[in-house]
Order: sequence, then C-alpha cells, then structure tokens
Amino acid sequence: MMKTFIKLMCSFFLFTVLNIGLFSSASAEELSAATKATLGPKSCANCHKSSIRAWKGTHHFKTFKNLPKKKEAKAIAKKMGIKRMKNKSDCLDCHFTSKPKKNKTKVVAGISCESCHGPAREWMDIHGDFGGKGVKVNDETPEHKITRYAEAEKNGMIRPSNLYNVAKNCYSCHTVPNEKLVNVGGHAAGSEFELVQWSQGEVRHNVWYDEKVNNASPTNRLRMMYIIGKALDLEYALRGLANATEDQAYFKAMVERQQKALTDLKKIADSLQTAEIKALVAAVNTADIKINNSAALTAVADKISGISQGIAKQYDGSQFAAIDTLLPAASSYKGNAFQP
Ligand code: HEC
Ligand code: HEC
Ligand code: HEC
Ligand code: HEC
Repeated sequence: MMKTFIKLMCSFFLFTVLNIGLFSSASAEELSAATKATLGPKSCANCHKSSIRAWKGTHHFKTFKNLPKKKEAKAIAKKMGIKRMKNKSDCLDCHFTSKPKKNKTKVVAGISCESCHGPAREWMDIHGDFGGKGVKVNDETPEHKITRYAEAEKNGMIRPSNLYNVAKNCYSCHTVPNEKLVNVGGHAAGSEFELVQWSQGEVRHNVWYDEKVNNASPTNRLRMMYIIGKALDLEYALRGLANATEDQAYFKAMVERQQKALTDLKKIADSLQTAEIKALVAAVNTADIKINNSAALTAVADKISGISQGIAKQYDGSQFAAIDTLLPAASSYKGNAFQP
C-alpha cells in the first residue's frame, strides 16, 4: 500500500512540476487503480451499525464536509496549485475515501472503514460467507472460520488481529510523507501521533462483540500497541526521510520524529530484555540520515519493518508488564470515545 502511495505521490509531483495539461487525466487513471477496489463505508453499514455510529463522531468522518470549507485548507491548496480538493488532488490520499464511478474517481467519504481495514471489493463476499447460503455466523464451523479469515486476508482485508498492518495505515497518513505538501503547501509535517492515545479516544470502536460497551483494549494489547506504534513511527520517519531532497521544514520535522521515536524505543528496550526490541534500536545505528539518501534509508526502514512484524506475531503483550509505567494514561486519549 505504501509503495503505491509513494508512487502516486511521485507521479503527482512530476506532473505538477511539469505543469502539463495531462495532469488531470493521467492522475485519474492512477487514482482509479488505487481506488478501484473500494466499495465505500455504506457497504459495511448493514452489518456494522455501531461501528458506523462511532465513526460518525470522528475527525476522520467530518473532514469530508469540513475540509474544503476551511481557510487553512484553501491556503494549502492554492500554494499547491489545486483548484478543487475533492477532484483528483493530493488531498484525496489522506483526507478522503474515493471509489470508481464509471471511469471516474468519486469521493464518497472522509477517512473510512476501508482506509484502515483495506479496500473491500475482493474480500467482502468472503468476509460475509459463513459456510454457504443461509448459514448464520453463529453456525459457522471452526474450520470454515479459519479458512474464511485466511482467504479474506489474502484478498486484502486488514484484520485488527494483524496489529502491524492495521497500525501501518495510521503512520502512512499521520507522518505526512510528502515533501512538497509541507515545504511548498505549508501543511503540518505530521501529527504528534502515539498509537495508544490516538486509537483509544474518538477512533475507538470496540463495539462488535458487545454492542452495549466500547471498552478500551485490554492491557496486553495496549502494551503491544505502544511498542509496535513506536517501531512504526521510527520506520515511517525513515521512509519520510528517504523522500527528503532539501534541507527545509520537511526534513527537519522528519529528523525530529526519527529522534523522538528512537529515544522512546530505547526506553522500551531498557525496560525489557527482549532481543528483537534491542535489534530495532541497533538497526537505526546503521542509518546515515541526510537528504537525497533514499535507497539506504528505505533499506533501514524495511529492516525495521521486518523486525516489527516479527514482534507483533511472536508476542501478545503478557510478557511486557515492565513497560506499564510508560503507557499513556486514559485521560490523555485523543478525543472522546463513542458511548453506545
Ligand atoms: C454481511 C454482513 C457484513 C458486512 C457487509 C460486513 N461485515 Fe464485517 N463482520 C461481519 C460479521 C458477522 C463479523 C463477525 C464474524 C467475524 O469474525 O468475521 C464481522 C467482523 C468484522 C471485523 C472483525 C473480525 C475480524 O476479521 O477480525 C472487521 C474488522 C470487519 N468485520 C470489518 C468490516 C468492514 C470494514 C466492512 C465493510 C467494508 C464489513 N466488515 C462488512 C459481517 C459483515
Ligand atoms: C500524507 C497525508 C496527507 C495529505 C496528502 C494531506 N493531508 Fe492534510 N492532514 C493530514 C493529517 C494526518 C492531518 C492531521 C494533522 C494533525 O495531527 O493535526 C491533516 C490535517 C490537515 C489540516 C488541519 C486540520 C483541519 O481539518 O483543519 C488541513 C487544513 C489540511 N490537512 C489540509 C490538506 C489539504 C488542502 C491537502 C491537499 C493539498 C492535504 N491536507 C493533504 C494528512 C494529509
Ligand atoms: C482509523 C482507522 C480505522 C477506521 C477508519 C475504522 N477502523 Fe475498525 N478498527 C481499527 C483498529 C485499529 C481496530 C482495533 C482496535 C483495538 O484493538 O483497540 C479496529 C477494530 C474493528 C473491529 C473489531 C471491533 C471489536 O469489537 O473488537 C471491527 C468490527 C471494525 N473495526 C470495523 C470497522 C468498520 C465497519 C469501520 C467503518 C465504519 C471501521 N472499522 C473503521 C481501525 C479502523
Ligand atoms: C487515510 C489517511 C489516514 C489514516 C489511514 C488514518 N488517519 Fe487519522 N487522520 C487523518 C487526517 C487527514 C486527519 C485530520 C482530519 C481533519 O481534522 O481534517 C486525521 C485525524 C485523526 C484524529 C483526530 C486528531 C485531532 O485533531 O483530534 C485521530 C485521533 C486519528 N486521526 C487517529 C488515527 C488512528 C489511530 C489511525 C490508525 C488506526 C488513523 N488515524 C489512520 C488521516 C488518516
């Protein structure tokens, strides 16, 4: 996903720089490739009513209506040479969900279900088939469930159980890895994002297994989120640095992000005697942080990605009580959690 994202960014950049008339048609084709598989949040609504209600209280939902009206947004768009934010612009990738309509890209929502759980065209039918026509979810055999989950994931579903993959999405947007958008557009150079805080506030929708409550995730899960979140922050800071071509605001912000994530990871590594976490810290020592060093920095980011995925698979958090003092307090969660 990140690869296509970067590719998209690069092609946008190129076309904007060349300022050729082809811009709209060429990017439309690229975008339809990236959005072709998207069905839109209405496709989840019948079965996931509570998740939809939770989502409607978020900035992710509201940006759809609010963004184009905002003075700050208009100023950024103007500097970027964008006339309509919802029309094939750089803004689409992070602020909106688009799906194909005939051969065109149609913006249908803000950041929505498929932005985090994966475009659903190829996995929707699998996800909702519990063993043939008429078989209800409660009558599904354990074997069928295993195959169904595996098939859905093979076809692009990002399930919450895959913490690394679901959280990776957050960082691909919230680090804002787009140099021109920051240096020329004056867009914020990423969020002060921490996975526990930012996922357990307004974004929280743990409402599937019991619709009457929306509890924060269990402590073991929060520990894993804290560690994987810091590792992703480091990885995506390095990916952001790999895109840097000038020593300006964007580069400086990414350097700061990288240093902060590393400091926090060192604290985690000091608290836990876990070889893989120490390996994360060690991997960064090989990084030569400077502009125009894309290949080398991407290689370090890839290495960190591999180690992080291993940690996410191998541990469930029960081993990591020693970091409980580092976990953010519930009072610092970002926004208010939905109350069913
Ligand atoms: C036909 C009804 C139906 C539709 C439509 C549907 N779901 Fe589900 N979903 C279910 C059921 C039933 C479960 C619980 C069974 C299970 O674990 O898969 C579930 C579980 C889930 C889970 C948690 C279980 C897991 O796989 O880890 C996620 C995430 C999810 N759905 C996302 C979505 C998204 C996103 C959409 C829209 C793109 C969607 N669903 C559309 C019926 C549906
Ligand atoms: C790489 C992802 C990305 C792209 C591309 C992007 N944004 Fe953003 N934008 C974000 C994130 C993440 C935030 C939230 C920042 C924060 O933590 O406050 C944000 C916040 C904003 C805000 C402040 C929040 C608000 O709603 O007032 C404005 C304004 C904005 N973006 C405008 C734009 C415009 C205009 C474009 C297109 C030219 C654009 N953005 C493209 C990721 C992106
Ligand atoms: C910003 C990213 C994001 C968006 C948008 C999003 N989800 Fe999720 N979803 C997650 C994450 C992360 C988890 C796991 C949360 C945790 O473990 O605390 C999750 C968990 C779930 C679960 C399991 C809930 C449970 O009770 O365990 C379901 C079902 C689900 N999402 C469906 C949806 C649907 C339907 C939508 C759209 C209305 C949606 N999600 C929008 C990121 C997102
Ligand atoms: C497709 C890009 C994208 C993804 C994926 C994404 N976000 Fe966001 N997020 C944004 C943008 C853009 C905004 C700002 C929206 C606005 O206010 O205009 C935002 C805003 C937020 C806010 C509100 C911040 C505030 O100002 O109060 C929270 C919390 C948040 N995101 C958490 C998450 C979490 C947690 C994940 C992953 C599970 C995630 N986001 C995934 C783009 C994204």
